[in-house]
Amino acid sequence: MSNLTKFSDNVLPEFNQIMLNQLQSLDTEKKLKESMTYSVEAGGKRIRPLIIFVICQMLNRKLDKSVYSVAGALELIHTYSLIHDDLPAMDDDNLRRGKPTNHIIFGESMAILAGDALNTLAFEWISNAELPDSQKVLLMGQLARLAGPEGMVGGQVADIEGEQKELSLAQLKQVHKRKTGDLIEFSMYAGSILGKATDQQHVALMAYGRHFGLAFQIYDDIMDVVGTSEEMGKAVHKDNQENKNTYPGLMGIDQAYRMLEEVTNQAKDAIQTLKQTGLETEYLEELLHYFKLKN
Ligand code: IPE
Ligand code: IPE
Ligand code: MG
Ligand code: MG
Ligand code: MG
Repeated sequence: MSNLTKFSDNVLPEFNQIMLNQLQSLDTEKKLKESMTYSVEAGGKRIRPLIIFVICQMLNRKLDKSVYSVAGALELIHTYSLIHDDLPAMDDDNLRRGKPTNHIIFGESMAILAGDALNTLAFEWISNAELPDSQKVLLMGQLARLAGPEGMVGGQVADIEGEQKELSLAQLKQVHKRKTGDLIEFSMYAGSILGKATDQQHVALMAYGRHFGLAFQIYDDIMDVVGTSEEMGKAVHKDNQENKNTYPGLMGIDQAYRMLEEVTNQAKDAIQTLKQTGLETEYLEELLHYFKLKN
């Protein structure tokens, strides 16, 4: 078992439990609570929270409840983005995290509202965290920016509008950076702020995050072609059917793999810079093993 797996097995169960307890304690309509909890509890890899924990660990920042609150906030926003992404008006999917999608179980109106509620609750969790106000303002501002019109939501719009036209590679890269990369970038940002990285470390962490984020969506596009629904916990072969712009769609699967490798190599360059600042980068290297570079 890799050290990253051990680390993740150590922190994620407690993190998940705290998130679910917080959701349980909400004083709101029963159906809404069930719908929100359903999608959070459905699982998911928790890769964004894990990145925050990894960076904090690298920077000797204690993984206390306040770190869990920020990581939880990010996972709430990510989960809301998936609930809305799956709606009939968007990607129209029936399977997510190995279970029926939120709207299939709770209906469209509840799925929309559960997404809205997760989105706003995220900011409440950060505001309630025991952190210096200055850190909370930075974290909330950056999360709002990266999840909002200039970030993830804007990327989702470009993705949907792209169904009507073929994008250039530069445009597609921008869509992927925004719809997926930006939330992953927030995990690097949060880890860096919480762990008080130096300026030089911060720049290199953000560079790693940018490359990792882009690689993540290229890999997701590839897995839509070569993966199975069982291993992914969601439908596959959907992108072509929905006329999505994707890396394999634009350049073929072999070239998409080559691009994935190129981008992960750029992430490796950022790791070298981080090493030079005296950080132990083993976990960041292991995170890149998520991308299987060959079919
Ligand atoms: C899925 O994200 C959506 C993309 C941004 C590609 P994940 O692959 O992290 O999904 P979960 O959280 O594990 O379900
Ligand atoms: C998802 O992109 C991006 C967001 C949810 C913001 P996809 O539409 O490719 O994600 P999957 O494949 O449905 O998980
Ligand atoms: Mg989508
Ligand atoms: Mg989708
Ligand atoms: Mg996809």
